Amino acid sequence: ADIARQVAKAATSLEQLQAAMGAFEHCELKKGARNLVFADGNPEARVMIIGEAPGRDEDREGRPFVGRAGQLLDRMLDAIDLSRENSVYITNVLPWRPPQNRDPRPDEIGMLKPFLERHVELVKPDVLVLMGNISCQAVLGKRGITRLRGKWDAALTLPVMPMFHPAYLLRQPQAKRLAWADLLELKAKLMGS
Ligand code: URA
Repeated sequence: ADIARQVAKAATSLEQLQAAMGAFEHCELKKGARNLVFADGNPEARVMIIGEAPGRDEDREGRPFVGRAGQLLDRMLDAIDLSRENSVYITNVLPWRPPQNRDPRPDEIGMLKPFLERHVELVKPDVLVLMGNISCQAVLGKRGITRLRGKWDAALTLPVMPMFHPAYLLRQPQAKRLAWADLLELKAKLMGS
């Protein structure tokens, strides 16, 4: 992680950060992935969304959240009048797809965390949205999305909203009601600041 920290800090633009991640050879996940999945959306947006890791579709296309979970994410954003192209910036904790979509290991999250931190520093969003446990683990050092979701976390210097991951909502549609409440909370924050 020290090497990652050094190269991440040296990046002074998103282009440089993407290039530094592409050249980073200290993570095994890179070998099994087809593409580096860096980010999507508008780097000037007020909202930055952090997911978990690319799945099969994302690995193939080199863009985050383009599969089924991504389509649900688009609809969720749409419900509060946020467009994927203009109003949000989307990335993941991991830029490479884990084999068979297994959960990322703590050492992998730790190794790549400096890149994520630098990514947030360079985008400078007004609010962060964390999708699911892995991003809560990476950014807040906490798990337990059922407890964390829907409440603004003040651990960082900007407001952070943990939410259920759209892939979880596809499996547990009854949780969509809570996710809807969290989206309204996000909308209210954006309107009020
Ligand atoms: N799930 C994620 O967390 N990220 C993606 O990019 C796709 C699915």
